[in-house]
Amino acid sequence: MFITFEGVEGAGKTTQIARLASRLRAEGRADVLTTREPGDGPLGSELRRLALHPPLGITVEPRAELLIMLADRAQHVGQIIHPHLASGGIVVCDRYADSSLAYQGYGRGLDIAEIARLNDYATDGLKPDITLLLDLDPAVGLARQNERNIMEAESLAFHARIRAGFLALAAQKLGRWVIVEAGRSAEEVEGDVWKAVSKLIVSHGISVPFTP
Ligand code: TYD
Repeated sequence: MFITFEGVEGAGKTTQIARLASRLRAEGRADVLTTREPGDGPLGSELRRLALHPPLGITVEPRAELLIMLADRAQHVGQIIHPHLASGGIVVCDRYADSSLAYQGYGRGLDIAEIARLNDYATDGLKPDITLLLDLDPAVGLARQNERNIMEAESLAFHARIRAGFLALAAQKLGRWVIVEAGRSAEEVEGDVWKAVSKLIVSHGISVPFTP
């Protein structure tokens, strides 16, 4: 089972992914792999540095930025995500293809259909079973952040387009997306995340005694 988390900066994905993974493990699923984009694996960490912390004075073209994210994704799917899924494990990923649609598409203004096509190429068509959108006002999220990468230095209007982009993507494909209101306590958010994931697990017929 392939689970992804999406959202604006500071929406709480890291906390929620850690909580979901420990809950799954407590329910007897030892085969949970948590990972992230961009940046997992040795090539990924180089690509993450290039995309988010480019050398001083270098402006990365939006198309170049997209292609770095896609290179990271292709490597990540091929060497980390796909092998774990193929062995029957659960993968929980912090950002995936939808982040390219939201950031490089809605944020930077690149063509959405083109990015979708390139995402399909990079992932060899691998789609998440469920995508949890932690929805939050970007002004609140940015105030929570302390890392300064090139995205976090962008304007509030840029981050507002990204939030709207995620909501538009979720509205188009309601089957896979679950929108969780992230401006609440971590416990409340965790409760909603668990409700959605445990429902999916039950519907997949996985025989572990899940506590809803
Ligand atoms: P990160 O510090 O991991 O941010 P967060 O904790 O909010 O996920 O940095 C990831 C950054 O990369 C984030 O600003 C979103 C951006 N990004 C893209 O622009 N396109 C992409 O395809 C992906 C995966 C991430």
